[in-house]
Amino acid sequence: MSAIKGDTAWLKSEISKLKKEKNAVIMSHYYQREEIQEIADFIGDSLALARQAAKTDASIIVMCGVHFMGETAKILCRDKKVLIPDSNAGCSLADSCDPKEFKEFVDKHPDHTVISYVNTSAAVKGLTDIVVTSGNARRIVEQLPEEEKIIFGPDHNLGEYINSVTGRNMLLWKGACHVHDRFSIEKIMEMKKSHPGAKILVHPECRRPLQLIADKVGSTAALLEFAQKDDSKEYIVVTESGILFEMRKKCPEKIFLAAPAEDSECQCNECDYMKLNTLQKVYECLRDEQPEIIVEEELADRAIKPIERMLEMS
Ligand code: 13P
Ligand code: SF4
Repeated sequence: MSAIKGDTAWLKSEISKLKKEKNAVIMSHYYQREEIQEIADFIGDSLALARQAAKTDASIIVMCGVHFMGETAKILCRDKKVLIPDSNAGCSLADSCDPKEFKEFVDKHPDHTVISYVNTSAAVKGLTDIVVTSGNARRIVEQLPEEEKIIFGPDHNLGEYINSVTGRNMLLWKGACHVHDRFSIEKIMEMKKSHPGAKILVHPECRRPLQLIADKVGSTAALLEFAQKDDSKEYIVVTESGILFEMRKKCPEKIFLAAPAEDSECQCNECDYMKLNTLQKVYECLRDEQPEIIVEEELADRAIKPIERMLEMS
């Protein structure tokens, strides 16, 4: 059956033609819609996306993720065009750290090393000594001398997790992600009662009580890797439900259950920012070469230093 203009098959074929014509690469985070993950040249967590962006030889990067991911790619590849299918794809966690307020916090503690999670604006990265992702935060903090005083922002839950596993006492900014911060321990314990053999996989952006009941705490890539290597048959996945697509693909014989959110009747928990990107928008952004991510040169010069430090240390 041939594709009809505008349908999924047509969009996929047009995207593939445009990609070749323009020497473009499509990168996707695990939380993207399934049809976007299907056409991506590369799928990964925030760390893998940054690493991949740093080494790509494509002329155009289409970042199917949220704005800070596109910004990080742009800072690392200033000679390339970085596009994002929907310019409104932001991040509540990045928004929970206003650069002006963060600067005041940093200025109050001049003897502290500043570590920022990658889920931040370029302006916050510009105030930072080392950027981390959930995939390398522990490894990076452990490389710093024990007596080093550290500010960690913006995710409070991830900061608490890193403090607990490293024995540090980092000063934490009080930011959070609206998706991960609303998972309910009660509902997850309820789910566990009806699936007693299921292991609980938790993203470190979730609250501390959830981290404590987890069989594995880790970034999206770490949770995926754990599920592949582990010998259980069933998992309750406490992070954005987009990751279930890759988990089911990699482990078709296993059962993955999306953890329910606190205030939702459904069995899933989605990041509305991540889901703003659609196949239609990927097609249009490749065709029109916009929306483009722009980072002012002087800011990019400052923000690249802590990102490069992260890449060296991870
Ligand atoms: P990962 O780095 O684990 O993919 O997480 C990114 C993110 O936005 C989590 O909400
Ligand atoms: Fe940001 Fe949360 Fe969405 Fe991740 S899931 S992109 S932290 S709002």
